Amino acid sequence: MCSIVIAVYFLLLPPQALSLWACTRSCPPSCTCTQEKSCSVLCDHVSMMDLPKEFPCEASSINLDKNSLKFLSERAFGTLPSLKTLSLDHNNISFITPGAFKGLPNLVELKMAHNEYIRYLHTRTFTALKRLVRLDISDCNLFNLPDRIFLEQIALKELLCFQNNFRRITGAIRGMENLTHVYLERNKIEAVAYNSLLGLCNLKYLNLQENRINVIHDEAFKDLVRLENFYLNDNLLVDLPQQAFKGLSNLKMLNLGGNLMTNVSRTWFSDLVELEVLYLDRNRLSYIEDGTFENLTSLITLHLNSNNLTSLPFSVFQPIYFIGRLYLFRNPWECTCDLEWLKEWMESYKLVRDIPCASPSSVAGLDLSEVVYVHLNGTCLDPPELNLTTSLPDYPTMENKFNSLISKLLQQELMDEMVNATDGLRNGTQQDSAESQVSSGHGLFCAAQTVFFLVFLFQAQIDCINAT
Ligand SMILES: *[C@@H]1O[C@H](CO)[C@@H](O)[C@H](O)[C@H]1NC(C)=O
Ligand SMILES: *[C@@H]1O[C@H](CO)[C@@H](O)[C@H](O)[C@H]1NC(C)=O
Ligand SMILES: *[C@@H]1O[C@H](CO)[C@@H](O)[C@H](O)[C@H]1NC(C)=O
Ligand SMILES: *[C@@H]1O[C@H](CO)[C@@H](O)[C@H](O)[C@H]1NC(C)=O
Ligand SMILES: *[C@@H]1O[C@H](CO)[C@@H](O)[C@H](O)[C@H]1NC(C)=O
Ligand SMILES: *[C@@H]1O[C@H](CO)[C@@H](O)[C@H](O)[C@H]1NC(C)=O
Ligand SMILES: *[C@@H]1O[C@H](CO)[C@@H](O)[C@H](O)[C@H]1NC(C)=O
Ligand SMILES: *[C@@H]1O[C@H](CO)[C@@H](O)[C@H](O)[C@H]1NC(C)=O
Ligand SMILES: *[C@@H]1O[C@H](CO)[C@@H](O)[C@H](O)[C@H]1NC(C)=O
Repeated sequence: MCSIVIAVYFLLLPPQALSLWACTRSCPPSCTCTQEKSCSVLCDHVSMMDLPKEFPCEASSINLDKNSLKFLSERAFGTLPSLKTLSLDHNNISFITPGAFKGLPNLVELKMAHNEYIRYLHTRTFTALKRLVRLDISDCNLFNLPDRIFLEQIALKELLCFQNNFRRITGAIRGMENLTHVYLERNKIEAVAYNSLLGLCNLKYLNLQENRINVIHDEAFKDLVRLENFYLNDNLLVDLPQQAFKGLSNLKMLNLGGNLMTNVSRTWFSDLVELEVLYLDRNRLSYIEDGTFENLTSLITLHLNSNNLTSLPFSVFQPIYFIGRLYLFRNPWECTCDLEWLKEWMESYKLVRDIPCASPSSVAGLDLSEVVYVHLNGTCLDPPELNLTTSLPDYPTMENKFNSLISKLLQQELMDEMVNATDGLRNGTQQDSAESQVSSGHGLFCAAQTVFFLVFLFQAQIDCINAT
């Protein structure tokens, strides 16, 4: 089979090309060649400045990584019908002659990443690579790709183009229905236009993270019906189109973290019935519309940490069968009775923790799990706003915490007395009152312990000041 292919190629070549480019049986100088089932030619890291004149005819892979190659001429590798993988990572290639890879009809994988002087590729760079499945041109300082550069690469599945200087999604990938993985992270892309991703109906993985995307057009993702993993994090998105992810019913992971969004709209995630992981962390979210997560029936993990959320209405999580992991830290939580459901949920499922309260002041600095909600007559009473924190500016942190704990304790006792006093009035809410007694009793004990500890610390500090 192999020799037939070689014969055909030799017949097609002009005689002078034959003498120049005929492959050899010997291993090129400064390379090592394995002679097992498939011949691998290893020439990496040998300070090579120019390509060897010939490679072994039966070579199936060639590794030329980490050399100082600068230039690829036409048919730079001769005729190697068995070659499947070619790696040129970490060289100093600055010019590739159109047709440089002619003579490699069965090449499946081409790696040219980290050649920081390439900048530009000619439309005919990859001519004759009809079987190419995987191409890596990451970190090559490319500014764009010609629209028709992949005309012959109909089998291409994976395109790695991260860490270049693209300012838009290259038109070269439009309509490439066989692409499954596209890596465009760490470029300078500013927008996703309605036609940028047209026809990519087999795409499973799309990485656009760490670009400068601030606009996404309506229906920009509409053809990505098989998409499973989608990275849009660390861009400049303030808002998304109402139906941004419409039809992406196979999406499993969506990362929208590290953007500038303030609101989450209930229409965004309507169709994402397979979504398991959703990142909305590191935005400026202060408002999540009711029902936003309603159709995310496969959700396992939701990241909402590092936002500007003060409250999280229970209705956001309707229906209640979401019992996955919830990340809520680094938000200015307002631990009023509106969050009581979350505290209970925290205790029942143990899947969420670390919810620091920013207000009301009587509980500021506490974790939601430490806040004791007092019930009077079956109604939850918000922890009060206090005004005791203006004295002693020398020890602000200590003072605040100390005061808030003291007042919490005082408030607790007050409430307990009130509960006791109104016990006689309770008729139908016996169970309620029993529960609130248990939980407030526990809270009282913890708070008392903490206060004792803080008084001890405080006393130690005063002793210290007195001693000096
Ligand atoms: C790499 O190529 C560039 C431009 O062709 C040249 O300026 C630079 O000196 C080269 N670097 C090395 C290490 O050869
Ligand atoms: C996708 O691959 C198939 C089979 O290799 C091929 O027939 C088809 O033309 C390719 N599609 C595109 C758009 O290149
Ligand atoms: C976010 O929601 C709030 C409250 O509904 C609204 O006032 C505000 O205009 C919204 N902001 C954006 C950017 O949609
Ligand atoms: C959830 O899906 C149903 C049925 O497809 C739809 O009618 C509803 O509007 C969706 N909910 C949201 C919040 O989009
Ligand atoms: C957080 O939200 C408040 C209002 O709820 C607003 O005043 C403030 O500017 C927001 N902070 C950020 C960083 O967006
Ligand atoms: C408790 O509820 C009853 C009836 O609902 C009401 O009459 C009473 O004033 C309430 N007590 C307090 C302290 O709010
Ligand atoms: C706290 O004190 C400030 C001034 O000392 C006052 O303006 C504010 O209304 C007080 N807040 C409450 C909740 O009493
Ligand atoms: C409230 O009543 C319970 C028993 O009914 C008692 O143990 C507790 O000390 C009372 N609390 C206060 C603050 O009086
Ligand atoms: C409790 O029950 C008594 C008699 O059963 C009734 O007179 C009283 O109004 C009830 N109190 C409340 C708060 O429902």
